[in-house]
Amino acid sequence: MKYINMNTGNTIPMLGFGVFKMLDKDECKNSVLYAIKNGYRLIDTAAVYTNEDAVGEAVKEAIEEGICTRDELFITSKLWANDMKNEDTAKAAIEKTMKKIGLDYLDLFLVHQALGDYFSGYRAMTEGYKAGIFKAIGVSNFYPNILTNFCETVEIIPAVNQIELHPYFVQNDALETMKYYNIVPEAWAPLGGGRYDAFNEPILTETAKKYNKTVGQVMLRWNVQRGVVVIPKSTHENRIKENFDIWDFELTEDEMNKISSLDMGYGDTRTKHFNPEFVRMCLNNVEKINKP
Ligand SMILES: NC(=O)c1ccc[n+]([C@@H]2O[C@H](COP(=O)([O-])OP(=O)(O)OC[C@H]3O[C@@H](n4cnc5c(N)ncnc54)[C@H](OP(=O)(O)O)[C@@H]3O)[C@@H](O)[C@H]2O)c1
Repeated sequence: MKYINMNTGNTIPMLGFGVFKMLDKDECKNSVLYAIKNGYRLIDTAAVYTNEDAVGEAVKEAIEEGICTRDELFITSKLWANDMKNEDTAKAAIEKTMKKIGLDYLDLFLVHQALGDYFSGYRAMTEGYKAGIFKAIGVSNFYPNILTNFCETVEIIPAVNQIELHPYFVQNDALETMKYYNIVPEAWAPLGGGRYDAFNEPILTETAKKYNKTVGQVMLRWNVQRGVVVIPKSTHENRIKENFDIWDFELTEDEMNKISSLDMGYGDTRTKHFNPEFVRMCLNNVEKINKP
């Protein structure tokens, strides 16, 4: 496993495990436990995924079974948009998360979306950071303009910005802004989130064949090689193992550039965030977020 330094002085693993849309509690708990048993140390959940409890249970079980210690793990959760009405609603949501996940602290806590009153939300998170409940705080889905204004305004510069990053949405402009502020970029949907036709894309299939790897492994490696943390999700044991096995090959500069040429210049969220119906849904009809 490789790690990157965060601006807090702590490190973050470059490969983690995402649990979005794992709505079945047993499936989520078993998948997380299986991931930890197979070497994953970073787990990425969120209040809106409704599975913080399953993640917390898997973590406690892994520690009890002696697979790893709490300090070796890196647990992330996120504050949802409709909980950021003001600082009090954000504090109540933070308390709910900590109770539900059942851990003494989180390694990273993120503003999930730049929606609602996220400055108030972040102020409540800053209090949690100072109190040691969060070892690091950060943001998610913050585009360069929003991130720049945010960094110039808040007391604590975010440690991480988790955004959509895969070969079809390369976002070099976002990476440059994060580099300027020393913020670690973390990729959600690093496998394209099941959208796009990546697994049949000749540039990816040929590269995979050359290294005797899979298209998924090439996509993950491509992000890691440009300094991006990846958090692929899977409920299949073979894929959980496969997605972790990306450390024994290296893409050439030419291959990195060819893969980057798949960029469409837009992705799932940059389209959605410009859509009033999606924003309204995030702020009001939270249950729709987890629908397939
Ligand atoms: N901050 C945000 O707004 C945000 C948004 C979305 C996601 N996230 C986080 O990022 C994580 C990853 O994103 P994601 O879940 O949307 O997308 P993803 O990890 O890019 O893709 C997951 C999809 O790929 C499939 N898959 C996994 N491994 C595979 C493999 N080796 N070969 C072929 N298919 C494979 C999975 O199916 P199976 O499960 O059936 O294997 C699932 O359909 C999430 O779980 C969540 O933690 C954050």
